[in-house]
Amino acid sequence: MIGIACDHGGYELKLEIIKYLEKKGLEYKDFGCNGESVDYPHYARKVGQAILDGECDKGILVCGTGFGMSIVANKFKGIRCAPCYDEETAKQAKEHSNVNVLALPAAYLSTSKAIQIMRVWVASEFLGGRYSERLQMIADVEKENMK
Ligand code: RB5
Repeated sequence: MIGIACDHGGYELKLEIIKYLEKKGLEYKDFGCNGESVDYPHYARKVGQAILDGECDKGILVCGTGFGMSIVANKFKGIRCAPCYDEETAKQAKEHSNVNVLALPAAYLSTSKAIQIMRVWVASEFLGGRYSERLQMIADVEKENMK
């Protein structure tokens, strides 16, 4: 189950992504917004909480740059979120960092590019091995610094 949310800057792109998810029969839950002007932390937070609660296992956040929402998502223990601007970074985000929340910069992507990035992120596999050890190091930092 993919949790998806956006701010006003990402709303139009979010609608296109939802159309794609529906076409492909991929399960999602939309946490808003509905196009009104909002503060992105509230919406990134909804997806972060849904993942922590086990309601969703991954997320997609769409804002202007992808930065603000990814910063919020990364405040949640166990969430690894990265803004991806192309297919290569999306592939590596999954393969090396097992990114479980994809942030998309709507201001810098065409709809087709954004969908291609999302497809690559969904289809790529975490490589494990030494990358797992690095994720464990991230978990150690969380343990030390998060409640
Ligand atoms: C919205 O004004 C803009 O700040 C937001 O979409 C995003 O780019 C933040 O990271």
